[in-house]
Amino acid sequence: MDGKQIFKVSFDPVTGRMGALRLCLLAALMGGALCQYYDYDAYYQPSSFMGPSGPNCAQECECPILFPSAMYCDGRKLKFIPIVPSGIKYLYLQNNMIEEIKAGVFDNATDLRWLVLDHNQITSSKVAKGTIDKLVHLEKLLFSYNNLTEPMGPLSKSLNEFKMIGNKLNKFPPTTLSGMENLTTVHLEGNELTTEAITGAFKGLKSLIFLDVSNNKLKKLPAGVPNSLEMLYADHNDIDSIPGAYLQKLPALQYLRVSHNKLADSGVPAGVFNSSSLIELDLSFNKLQSIPEVNENLEHLYLQGNSINKFDLTSFCKFTGPLNYSRLRHLRLDGNNVTRENMPFDTSNCLRQATDIVFE
Ligand SMILES: *[C@@H]1O[C@H](CO)[C@@H](O)[C@H](O)[C@H]1NC(C)=O
Ligand SMILES: *[C@@H]1O[C@H](CO)[C@@H](O)[C@H](O)[C@H]1NC(C)=O
Ligand SMILES: *[C@@H]1O[C@H](CO)[C@@H](O)[C@H](O)[C@H]1NC(C)=O
Ligand SMILES: *[C@@H]1O[C@H](CO)[C@@H](O)[C@H](O)[C@H]1NC(C)=O
Ligand SMILES: *[C@@H]1O[C@H](CO)[C@@H](O)[C@H](O)[C@H]1NC(C)=O
Ligand SMILES: *[C@@H]1O[C@H](CO)[C@@H](O)[C@H](O)[C@H]1NC(C)=O
Repeated sequence: MDGKQIFKVSFDPVTGRMGALRLCLLAALMGGALCQYYDYDAYYQPSSFMGPSGPNCAQECECPILFPSAMYCDGRKLKFIPIVPSGIKYLYLQNNMIEEIKAGVFDNATDLRWLVLDHNQITSSKVAKGTIDKLVHLEKLLFSYNNLTEPMGPLSKSLNEFKMIGNKLNKFPPTTLSGMENLTTVHLEGNELTTEAITGAFKGLKSLIFLDVSNNKLKKLPAGVPNSLEMLYADHNDIDSIPGAYLQKLPALQYLRVSHNKLADSGVPAGVFNSSSLIELDLSFNKLQSIPEVNENLEHLYLQGNSINKFDLTSFCKFTGPLNYSRLRHLRLDGNNVTRENMPFDTSNCLRQATDIVFE
């Protein structure tokens, strides 16, 4: 087992903890090489286990001698970002009191791949130009729980993960993510984004798989999202309608969550959820009065907390026969105006795989 691989499985990008390292080294010493299971939090003592910090480290931080390309500066009450020496690829600055990213701090950090800034107090106006935007190899930018009102940019085209959860973003220029051909994961939940603010923001991201825009101020699902998308979460917004062809443009979408919005029957055109890729659909806590038509392949449907007052089997099965039936396994209808008595007698033929239909 080579060292690089050990570290690859050992790092949690959020905590930066090194739980697997000791386990894996022990396993290697004992002749085993299975590092699959690890516990980040159980172990984080680079100084005792790793020996002294590398010679190039900022004095406020630690750079494990066995893994000198990582610099740990998390949870140290820092008000500023320490000077980052060259050669550092993984930089952990979460849980500090940083308010500012000053010009020059990353001038020598041209190799930086991961930058973790979660849980600080950085405002957009205090991010100097020529800092984060100059990091051309950056792959993960984790910038959640700060005070950003708009993202900085343009950023490295090499990004594969972008997280700005729990900031105050109300702007998101279409150029922010443009050209990031390897970007797979975008987290923007818990901001103040409107439909207009994210117009064009996700165009052309041909590797995008996961997008979370929950807890914002959207009136519509994001437009122009790439057809690679598999998970789209938009809970807790003000969405009142879904365009008829929305899902037709997303042939890979498996999980769609639009709970806690304002969807009424009038905002749900016939057949809008007839997508054969969809496995889970969460429409709970809206204003629906009937069960929308869904594709036979859907397995999980959440409709609790609506105003549904009838149970129509054609929502699930257009035809019922030996090969024609719904794959639905879980259905939640609690918090509506239907009871088990509303189910037609032939329900079990159509919903023959349902193990769990909840009415209350
Ligand atoms: C960058 O590295 C050079 C050469 O090692 C050094 O003189 C300079 O002070 C460094 N600058 C920063 C901002 O770290
Ligand atoms: C960041 O936001 C928090 C919570 O809204 C606030 O208490 C704090 O003063 C803000 N800090 C800065 C530097 O703006
Ligand atoms: C995307 O990933 C591929 C394969 O790892 C790499 O060759 C390419 O340079 C990356 N693109 C960018 C813009 O970094
Ligand atoms: C659902 O889509 C399929 C194609 O995926 C189509 O054959 C079928 O007629 C559609 N059903 C409804 C009710 O629109
Ligand atoms: C039933 O399913 C089969 C196989 O999927 C299909 O060929 C047939 O057209 C379906 N029948 C009806 C009435 O939808
Ligand atoms: C609930 O359903 C019953 C019987 O179908 C109906 O009489 C009643 O008006 C409905 N209540 C609401 C709030 O829709």
